[in-house]
Amino acid sequence: MTNQDFTMNSASLREKFFEIYGNSGDKPDLYFAPGRVNLIGEHTDYNGGFVLPCAIQYGTYMLIRKFEGDTIRISSLNYPHQLISSSTHQLLNEKGKWFNYPFGVMNEFMNAGFPMTGMDILYSGDIPKSAGLSSSASIEMVTAFALNEMLNAGFDMIGLARLSQKAENNYVGVNCGIMDQFAVGLGKKDHALFLNCHTMEYKMIPFRSEGYSLIIVNSNKHRDLSDSMYNERVSECQLAVTYISSIIDVSRLGELGFPQYFKIQDNIPDVIVRKRARHVVSENQRVLNSVNCLWKNDLTQFGYLMNASHESLKENYEVTGIELDTLVEEALKVPGVLGARMTGAGFGGCTINLVANGSTDDFIRQVGDHYFKKTGLIADFYTAKISDGVRKINEQ
Ligand code: GLA
Repeated sequence: MTNQDFTMNSASLREKFFEIYGNSGDKPDLYFAPGRVNLIGEHTDYNGGFVLPCAIQYGTYMLIRKFEGDTIRISSLNYPHQLISSSTHQLLNEKGKWFNYPFGVMNEFMNAGFPMTGMDILYSGDIPKSAGLSSSASIEMVTAFALNEMLNAGFDMIGLARLSQKAENNYVGVNCGIMDQFAVGLGKKDHALFLNCHTMEYKMIPFRSEGYSLIIVNSNKHRDLSDSMYNERVSECQLAVTYISSIIDVSRLGELGFPQYFKIQDNIPDVIVRKRARHVVSENQRVLNSVNCLWKNDLTQFGYLMNASHESLKENYEVTGIELDTLVEEALKVPGVLGARMTGAGFGGCTINLVANGSTDDFIRQVGDHYFKKTGLIADFYTAKISDGVRKINEQ
């Protein structure tokens, strides 16, 4: 279900809501938060570097209705037959469960001095799960946005992104950066979001892709961020900073230019940590170069940068794997493909591809066939439409 045909389906979501929770109280409010795809700038956000994501048309819908009381009931059409009930005083937290995301957000509101009230919530999302398209940030941000309005808490969008990131860090246990929540909150139709993750300064860069499409390919190799591999990379980067800061005054890898890194790299004794730092520093530069390309509308050069990004994520950061590498390799064999790379955390999930409109059918057929032959997995293909961030949906 996409945003466009949702107006029709909001009535059936409402019906479901009343079926689950009854029709006695007020009319529930409807909200939407998108997922995101990252064009370039991978694993740079938690290093205080640059990223270039955009919000997409897929996302999470949420109906919410408050009542006097101390019970919170939540359910999701994506997890049918689960009606979760929690006390407002002692929020539920069960390892690995989807409802930790909304409860994590509520917990952060409570930490900020905004107690919870009784409420009924129903979610319904169309972002493929565990695919690296930020279904987690989407559910966090839709919840944060709705609660902010309901509780009159007064956070601005950056505040809500930070609060949602904290929820994921503290309640879910993933030490993610700010990119996903930021893109889901502040994304803008037909624009890429160029963000400095240290200062939170950002600029909207028009993405004029005339003649080309952004195609997302889902490897259907599922990943689990809390799987610890992600947190391991975060620690490796912190270790790199410890080594480097004994030589020069830096507190994050995002501060380092490539020439500077080149001079001091041999002082990082651990080869693995050196490679991790090399990725972050070079990826940061690729984001800056990409922004220049997009201003100039030079998609060919942008495509090269996407390819170089994947190469570095494969060789230096080691977060790709056979599935994502095969998808990229096969994509680049198709005439009309300017660039291909993994997007998101890696270890499975999706690639993002810049494909000439006349080549999309060949792309889907060839990449799909070869991927299946090599891995036995069936890939899914989606054309990404760059969309707006989280919002309330006002129905007539
Ligand atoms: C995940 C995290 C983000 C970011 C990306 C990698 O999506 O949630 O904060 O680190 O991985 O770029």
